[in-house]
Amino acid sequence: MSTRRLVLTQSAALISAASTTLLLPEIARAQSNKIRVGLMLPYTGTFAQLGVAIENGFRMAIAEQGGKLGGREIEYFKVDDESEPSKGIENASKLVQRDKVDVLVGTVHSGVQMGIHKVARDSGVLSLIPNAGVHAATRSQCAPNVFRTSFSNSQPTRALGQAMVAKGHKKAVWITWKYAAGDEAFEGFKESYTAAGGTIVKELGLPFPNVEFQALLTEIASIKPDAVACFFAGGGAAKFMRDYAAAGLKDKIPLYGSGFLTEGVLEAAGPAADGVMTTLHYSDSLNTPRNQAFRLAYAKMFRLQPDVYAVQGYDTGLLLVQGANAVKGDLANKPALYKALESATIDSPRGKWTMSKSHNPVQDIYLRVVENKENKVLGVASKALADSGAGCKMA
Ligand code: PHB
Repeated sequence: MSTRRLVLTQSAALISAASTTLLLPEIARAQSNKIRVGLMLPYTGTFAQLGVAIENGFRMAIAEQGGKLGGREIEYFKVDDESEPSKGIENASKLVQRDKVDVLVGTVHSGVQMGIHKVARDSGVLSLIPNAGVHAATRSQCAPNVFRTSFSNSQPTRALGQAMVAKGHKKAVWITWKYAAGDEAFEGFKESYTAAGGTIVKELGLPFPNVEFQALLTEIASIKPDAVACFFAGGGAAKFMRDYAAAGLKDKIPLYGSGFLTEGVLEAAGPAADGVMTTLHYSDSLNTPRNQAFRLAYAKMFRLQPDVYAVQGYDTGLLLVQGANAVKGDLANKPALYKALESATIDSPRGKWTMSKSHNPVQDIYLRVVENKENKVLGVASKALADSGAGCKMA
């Protein structure tokens, strides 16, 4: 070989070695070929249990598929969002920019969700909302890459007012945490209660996640309404029901709520929850083979009773499985992926549901009552209820 040729060959080898080094991370990623799933959920604070239930449900749906999505292995990346809205954008960015997730699953708190939503809209990453009901996400700020598998904040309470008036409760006090979830739950309650002929005599509130209820309970005692309706969830909900009973109100002024009030907290609330009536898109006692099989499998896998959050996490998994299967694991094929997610019917433990045009579940809302530490279903309070999706224009 001539000297010249040798030099050329060597430099070619050098160039190719250099470009291999430069490309290595990309190649390694393509070769590992795992779908990168980001879980951004609360693992501390008043909603900690909700985050765990959502993750459990999600993992169970994936486990039922042999642990794969559209034939591909999965790698998980997790962030504890602490239900802290001020860290929402930063936490979601970590998953999208640093961990390069293909799909972002989260979260519980409506304020934190708005942080995720901004990152999802800016980056175009697929965003699946397994709880937070904030209206904007599927109304004025709806987006092609954002899908909710849970509810909109006013959906459960849109079925509550009618049920309360039917029980003869014409004058009610509303009480909640003052943030998007409570305020938007009020929107549904106000509409349904006043349409049924009820009057809301007072709106009470305290900042999230404050649980100093005493002064407000004293105020309720002095107003003496026919009933109280509320939105609380997680640890704060258990404390609210205990304080309500301890203040001597339980037997005098019936307590109603958006059904989150009695989800995942029946052990912690104890007898204070007995008889509390709520409306929600799920009930433990739904007498269907689908729900019974789900409850049994979940209890076996996690040694815990599932609640609505577990169901929502599970359904998020079911939705992602349908989408991933439709594109054979190629989540980058966005038009086909979104089409599959939009047209999915989810065979959920809550009953079958479909996606609305603005990407929010169209679902039955049940009337329930707490009996012996269980949410017993009394009937369907609203059939195939859809959120209005007001102001949603898909880009
Ligand atoms: C919310 O912030 O959107 C939220 C949180 C907990 C719930 C329901 C809604 O149980």
